Amino acid sequence: MPGVEFDAATRTWLLSTPGTGYALRLGDDGVLRHLYWGPRLTLAQASTVPAPRPATLTQFEGRVYDIEEFPVEGGARFGVPALQVRFADGTRGLELAFAGQERNADTLSIRLVDRHYPFEVSLHYRVYPDSDVVERWTSLANTGDVPVEVLRADSATWPVPARAGYVVRHVTGHWGGESQVERVDLARGETVLTSRRGTTGHHANPWFTIDAGDASEEHGEVFSGALAWSGTWRITLSRTPTDVVCVTGGAGHEGVSWRLAPGERRETPVFAGLYGVGGYGATSRVWHRYVRGHVLPHPQELRPVTYNSWEATGFTVDEPGQRRLAAQAAELGAELFVMDDGWFGARVDDRAGLGDWTVNRDRFPNGLAPLAAEVHRLGMRFGIWVEPEMVNPDSDLHRARPDWVLHMRNRHRTELRHQLVLNFARPDVAEWAHGWLDELVGGNDVDFLKWDMNRPFTEAGWPDGGDDPDRLWVRYVENLYGVLDRLRADHPHLRIQTCSGGGGRVDLGILRRTDEVWPSDNTDARDRLSVQHGYGQIYPTVTMAAWVTDVPNFLTGRTVPLRFRFHVAMAGVLAIGGNLPEWADEELAEARLLVAQYKRIRPVVQHGDVYRLLPPSDGLSATQYVAVDGTESVVFFWLPAPCFGREAAPVRLRGLDPAARYRDEATGEVQHGAVLLGHGLRPQLPSGDYASAVVHLVRVD
Ligand code: DGJ
Repeated sequence: MPGVEFDAATRTWLLSTPGTGYALRLGDDGVLRHLYWGPRLTLAQASTVPAPRPATLTQFEGRVYDIEEFPVEGGARFGVPALQVRFADGTRGLELAFAGQERNADTLSIRLVDRHYPFEVSLHYRVYPDSDVVERWTSLANTGDVPVEVLRADSATWPVPARAGYVVRHVTGHWGGESQVERVDLARGETVLTSRRGTTGHHANPWFTIDAGDASEEHGEVFSGALAWSGTWRITLSRTPTDVVCVTGGAGHEGVSWRLAPGERRETPVFAGLYGVGGYGATSRVWHRYVRGHVLPHPQELRPVTYNSWEATGFTVDEPGQRRLAAQAAELGAELFVMDDGWFGARVDDRAGLGDWTVNRDRFPNGLAPLAAEVHRLGMRFGIWVEPEMVNPDSDLHRARPDWVLHMRNRHRTELRHQLVLNFARPDVAEWAHGWLDELVGGNDVDFLKWDMNRPFTEAGWPDGGDDPDRLWVRYVENLYGVLDRLRADHPHLRIQTCSGGGGRVDLGILRRTDEVWPSDNTDARDRLSVQHGYGQIYPTVTMAAWVTDVPNFLTGRTVPLRFRFHVAMAGVLAIGGNLPEWADEELAEARLLVAQYKRIRPVVQHGDVYRLLPPSDGLSATQYVAVDGTESVVFFWLPAPCFGREAAPVRLRGLDPAARYRDEATGEVQHGAVLLGHGLRPQLPSGDYASAVVHLVRVD
């Protein structure tokens, strides 16, 4: 049974998941050491695992080989500290001693206290009966009567067992090009993945995988982790000269410190970890099931086919135009209509109006209610774009409350996209945002919010905010979460998309309170393949919105056939974002058929397991989805640039039952699972650039 066990004789804890074990031990010297992370063990077996090295100091170097469960600053430790504090008398570092444990079937908390100062650290663990993901987080308690300065507080340190090599995978990117997978040898030294931007960031994402260099998509041991936090963060992967490897991570970037007040207790966000043996593909599938089972608020719901107005109209939004788009979207089969930026205040471009969340009466003379009613009459849900954390200096809000933005004395207020960031760390700002959002949703029958956040923090200060200035970075995110949580609680039907100029705020923290993600502003179907490939390493398809937009693409100038654009978007949560009045009748007819086809395959695509058969390239790439109950499968093939004479070979499928047979829903052809797995499925692709196909297989026996 998965769960938490303790062997009192050896003082060994064992966390068991369905397929893995994670063990730690309290040494005779009082040091809590990491012991084991790998395939499942019994408690009897775990208690015989020797500690990594004897608990002696090497005389020239201090604690070099010790693999501590949570290495803090203090004593002869010179690695990356997971925790650094400074006490009121100037003393830095901690001398922690075991002070007790709390254990139940699936959680464990180990309490450590400082030998001298009134300060407690608790390490928390949670396992689930249906997942190999182990959740870890830490709480700090100041049990004294003077503040303690917290210089760094990670959520967890994940030690990676000794292996023949260490290869890291993570994502990098930029606006319009998020989630690009990197695979590199882990350098001896420290590799830092971080965001200092106030949000999770376009340029990095808080997850990693490490393997011995021998893992591939479907084979090999992989250790991985993902952090549940939507503000700044830092994950440090460290490899010592003697090849001790561990990964420590948590909220906050370097140089930020905050005070733990007397009597205060604070929990870090979760930094979850996973060990698996099925390569990168199985690692992703376990993360996907974990996110669906234990993170998302409504994982079981099928996401609606959406229409979004942004690329069609830009800021030129008005009631007649939106009605026209809505009518055409409904015709195509859309189930949710989202009106994007431009419906409020003086927001006719990106220079003014942000912050003034009253409907623009020139554009909507009778308010939003008539449009919402029309969208509902057309049988769709009504969604609307908001950017609650921002203000244009040219707005009534900013004229009235210039003190509400992040700013510092004697410093410029840097504008990006002509906007400033509202200080969500202020309770009055968060309250104000909740107030108008609550009214907007409740008063206009709004079913869906696209919650955008288009620029990073600069001059992140609050001059009158008290004597703990860096706390702002944490409070901001907590208040953001608070507003989202309240809205959801008060409007149970409301669904929310997280967007931050595309994929700038994607993480397990925001996914706990949103339903889907806008992964990138880049809607070019060719580019999108690699964005979707990187996004799906950790985050499940049911969260991955994907639009079909117009060509030439507004960013790349590339022209890709409608069918290819659809086939790329149909591999996620399908949406349409083109200017429909300009689509030819044949395009509308083809789109109607493809939307209908998507509705047939979407339970498998959105809720199934993903197999990345061939990664994106100019050659053939393919992704397969298999229903969790094994009854259906969907395979997408994309071939951007075919080469004459190089016919695509059959692609071997995954996740099917070799003893079963499967019918191709389009052709009626029945094929054996064993043949599809062993020999493969040959893609039937049209000729020409940007060829694509989708195959829907249904199990017949
Ligand atoms: C950035 C988003 O990513 C876009 O989809 C769009 O909503 C614009 N903001 C609107 O300003």
